[in-house]
Amino acid sequence: MPEFAAALTRAGVDALWVSRPENVRYVTGFTSPEDGKALLTPQGAVLYTDARYTEQARLESSAEQFIARPPATLEHAAERVRGLRVGFEADALTVAALDDLRRFWPDATLVPTTGILETLRLIKTPDEIERIRQAQRIADEAFAAVRPLIRAGAVERDIEFAIEGEMRKRGARGWAHGFIVAGGERGALPHGHASDRVLQDGELVTVDIGAVYDGYVSDMTRTVRVGEVSAELRRIYHAVLEAEEAAIRAVRPGVRAADLDTLARDILTGHGLGEAFAHSLGHGVGLAVHEGPSLRGTSDDVLEPGMVITIEPGAYLPGLGGVRIEDLVLVTEDGYEVLSTSPKEPV
Ligand code: GLY
Ligand code: MN
Ligand code: MN
Repeated sequence: MPEFAAALTRAGVDALWVSRPENVRYVTGFTSPEDGKALLTPQGAVLYTDARYTEQARLESSAEQFIARPPATLEHAAERVRGLRVGFEADALTVAALDDLRRFWPDATLVPTTGILETLRLIKTPDEIERIRQAQRIADEAFAAVRPLIRAGAVERDIEFAIEGEMRKRGARGWAHGFIVAGGERGALPHGHASDRVLQDGELVTVDIGAVYDGYVSDMTRTVRVGEVSAELRRIYHAVLEAEEAAIRAVRPGVRAADLDTLARDILTGHGLGEAFAHSLGHGVGLAVHEGPSLRGTSDDVLEPGMVITIEPGAYLPGLGGVRIEDLVLVTEDGYEVLSTSPKEPV
């Protein structure tokens, strides 16, 4: 695991206590990482999990394994960390868990760290990209299957339920985030999770969905019309689409993520919608639905081949409605590949 060793060295630690589930999975391959921890050293990872997972861990992970519950796990690790500088994930460890580390590892120097493994996770391997592709394929197929149901008289929650079923049939193991199905005025809620509201003619409906496949997620939003919509809603939709497509065309290695956000924001501002674009342009996607790089205006991240990002501008107008269009995009050696294939229907 040479890249792990180099990452520990760069961070100035001898070992890392891994508590964020996605990171436990990343360093061990164990698929129930919520019930595990890992101790990462230059020699490799030790997976700590309990007896419910003895056989599963053996099948899934080539990491050394110690099967017990805390505090036996911490006592076992204490032997390994004696005299070492041990990083812990400052943004993924409870105060109580840190107290336990202090108590059980009196001979280690505990160092708060952030981003050691998240930095490695920025660049996806071909295997990881393939899983994200499959997660996106599931979402595209599910959306196509359910699209005819998005019409006047349909209930938002029924649409959500139908998408979940179509995803399950195609191999999804879970959802990237709570599905957003937000019609009419609810479209002004960027995170308007599906409700009991009945869709009406003349509305736009925002549908934001993602599947989990083999641990990796997808993320996509489409905004579609129900019946004929007003000229103002059409104008807003096409402004968001223009910003989204311009930002996608600008994706390539070496581009600052913040500049993509500015590019899209400037287009929306030109349409009088700058204030209505209330969030950042996008985010990385992988084991987590929200990971690096960050595509916000304050981001220092620079795009590199192998990153998988979303481009998702939106406009949210209370009392009127909202639009978001989100694509999943792979940064390639010479530009980009859009992984999401669902049509962006003109309204
Ligand atoms: N709605 C959350 C996201 O797409 O990131
Ligand atoms: Mn989304
Ligand atoms: Mn997203």
